Amino acid sequence: MAQRKTQTNASGRIGGWALITGASAGIGRELAHAFAARRYDLVLAARTEAAIDALGRELATNHAVRVKTLPVDVAEPGAPQAMADALAEAGVEVGVLVNNAGVLTEGPFAGGALEAQLNLLQVNVVAVTALTRLFLPPMLARGEGRILNVASIAAFMPVPQLALYAATKAFVLSLTEAVGEEIRGSGVTATALCPGFTDTGMMRDSALARMVPQAATMSPKAVAEAGCAACLRGEAIVVPGLANRLITSGAPLAPRALVRALGGALNAGGWERLAAALQGLAGARGRTNP
Ligand SMILES: NC(=O)c1ccc[n+]([C@@H]2O[C@H](COP(=O)([O-])OP(=O)(O)OC[C@H]3O[C@@H](n4cnc5c(N)ncnc54)[C@H](OP(=O)(O)O)[C@@H]3O)[C@@H](O)[C@H]2O)c1
Repeated sequence: MAQRKTQTNASGRIGGWALITGASAGIGRELAHAFAARRYDLVLAARTEAAIDALGRELATNHAVRVKTLPVDVAEPGAPQAMADALAEAGVEVGVLVNNAGVLTEGPFAGGALEAQLNLLQVNVVAVTALTRLFLPPMLARGEGRILNVASIAAFMPVPQLALYAATKAFVLSLTEAVGEEIRGSGVTATALCPGFTDTGMMRDSALARMVPQAATMSPKAVAEAGCAACLRGEAIVVPGLANRLITSGAPLAPRALVRALGGALNAGGWERLAAALQGLAGARGRTNP
């Protein structure tokens, strides 16, 4: 297969293919549309082969891009290395890595199924780490590349009932920011996309998220467009939506107790706790809080 030259051209375009995990649905599917519309050749990865195959055919036809599909369960410990090996074997140079695949567990941490919790760590943390580690060095060697890791507004605060999920997203945000600083000036950048509630299967399957008013949710297309554009511009963090930006910019400045209560409120079950925390805060002026 003929390889496109991997040099950033005058338009600032990144050479190579865009590898998108979790491309079969939701935000990942829309990210595939966004990169295809910018004429990036695509590698679409997910477990649901029929969905990525159909999407691949659609994007190849509509945007005249090359598409490969990679049916894979990224929770399998050897999956990231197998993906890197398969793409190297096929002569595919990854210029843009999008770590979007993610899963959610909710409810009290102590009562959660351990197997599902460990699977969440594998998908949201281990696979993101391994894929970033595997695809970053060749980008650095070429002197150009983009990494887009999908975190969440939950990365900015602990979220009761979504404790483990929020912790994994805090990991993704921290890793992406730190690595982004390490590679500053290299021609490669790392971006953390931090969506708020987004109308996807993940949200529809969540008992907590279903309680969120429709007006507080964004479309996956809008989130993906913001993420794709920020990634290609090389921004460190993108939080789509004004309300989400207000929440995330306020969180680091607020007392920790308030941040915890805000996290509880975000899962739609903790508005009373947020009100109580605000009242407590008003009454406790001058006292130091942990
Ligand atoms: N929706 C929201 O409100 C929201 C908010 C903030 C952040 N996010 C983040 O956005 C990302 C995308 O989520 P979404 O809302 O678009 O969810 P979604 O509609 O459920 O899509 C999740 C994607 O991840 C893939 N995936 C899940 N487990 C996988 C595995 N083991 N191996 C390979 N692929 C796997 C799924 O594909 P298969 O099932 O075909 O494998 C699917 O394509 C996630 O990282 C999520 O945490 C979502």
